[in-house]
Amino acid sequence: MFNLSFGAAAGALALAIVATPLAASDDDHHDYNEEDQAGDFAYEAPAKPTEAWMLAAGGRIYDKWWAALDRPEPVYFTHPAYPATATKSGADTWRCVTCHGWDYKGATGIFRAGEDYTGIKGIDGAIGRDEGEIIALLRAPLHGYTQEMIGDEEIGWLAAFVSRGQIDMSKYVDLSTREIVAGDIDNGRAVFQTNCAACHGFDGRQLNWGGPGEDAFVGTEASDLPDEVMNKILNAHPGVWMINLRAFGPGVAADVLRYAATLPQE
Ligand code: HEC
Ligand code: HEC
Repeated sequence: MFNLSFGAAAGALALAIVATPLAASDDDHHDYNEEDQAGDFAYEAPAKPTEAWMLAAGGRIYDKWWAALDRPEPVYFTHPAYPATATKSGADTWRCVTCHGWDYKGATGIFRAGEDYTGIKGIDGAIGRDEGEIIALLRAPLHGYTQEMIGDEEIGWLAAFVSRGQIDMSKYVDLSTREIVAGDIDNGRAVFQTNCAACHGFDGRQLNWGGPGEDAFVGTEASDLPDEVMNKILNAHPGVWMINLRAFGPGVAADVLRYAATLPQE
């Protein structure tokens, strides 16, 4: 009897000792929505967001804010600043990327010609700019992003991305030919097999987001639209439970990009 209760007490003590260093700090505490953990990862913020988390979140808002933030799609009208001479209309014209480009260089980058041309400048001139100024610019009539569209905390992540999260795309993708110009294929293969393959399959063909008769796999998109895929790798695709490599930096992301472009395209 004595031995038993002593054993239990000792066990509890041992547990208490090992549990302390392993437990998450109170700061990291997160209340789970047990029904929808994927949605939680896609839409919720951690209690203590790191710089890497914020920059990736900002990058997803830049990509397609309503998908990233689970808001209604702005189907009502074409963005007033979108040039009438350009090719798009409707919700698409409310995406930052539609006017400013996947390479952040607008009319001086990959969008300098073709169906994506708008003539609007990039956001690379705003690298290092005060975040308050960036937020004011996005709330001003020219851009017209209301709090219902992008909330105050969320627009802070976007401003952080504009100020500190842009990469120099020309290091990885030739801005004239749209060819991939950097990246270590072997390291990219290692990262892909151990991360991306969990959802996309070892050959990148497990998920297909193409239309009927038209495949769109990781391989297809990495080879056709490498600047876009570089954004997805660094920030994740908005509104889904995809991981991102923001915390590992653009060098590792470029390795994955280059390897992904070697995967089957159909
Ligand atoms: C419909 C087109 C359009 C969309 C969508 C758009 N912008 Fe702009 N943006 C502009 C125009 C036009 C300017 C002003 C360019 C100029 O001064 O010549 C601008 C300027 C900027 C600038 C300042 C650039 C500089 O060098 O001073 C930043 C930063 C910026 N936009 C960020 C964003 C972000 C972030 C989003 C998405 C939330 C966004 N924009 C969506 C058209 C757009
Ligand atoms: C936890 C699952 C998961 C992981 C891990 C993951 N992805 Fe994804 N990814 C998704 C989902 C879901 C989509 C959305 C597919 C769709 O739209 O049908 C997606 C979409 C994409 C897209 C297409 C976006 C578009 O334009 O439609 C690319 C490119 C991509 N992932 C690349 C990667 C790469 C590279 C990695 C590894 C760094 C990776 N993904 C890791 C789940 C994942």
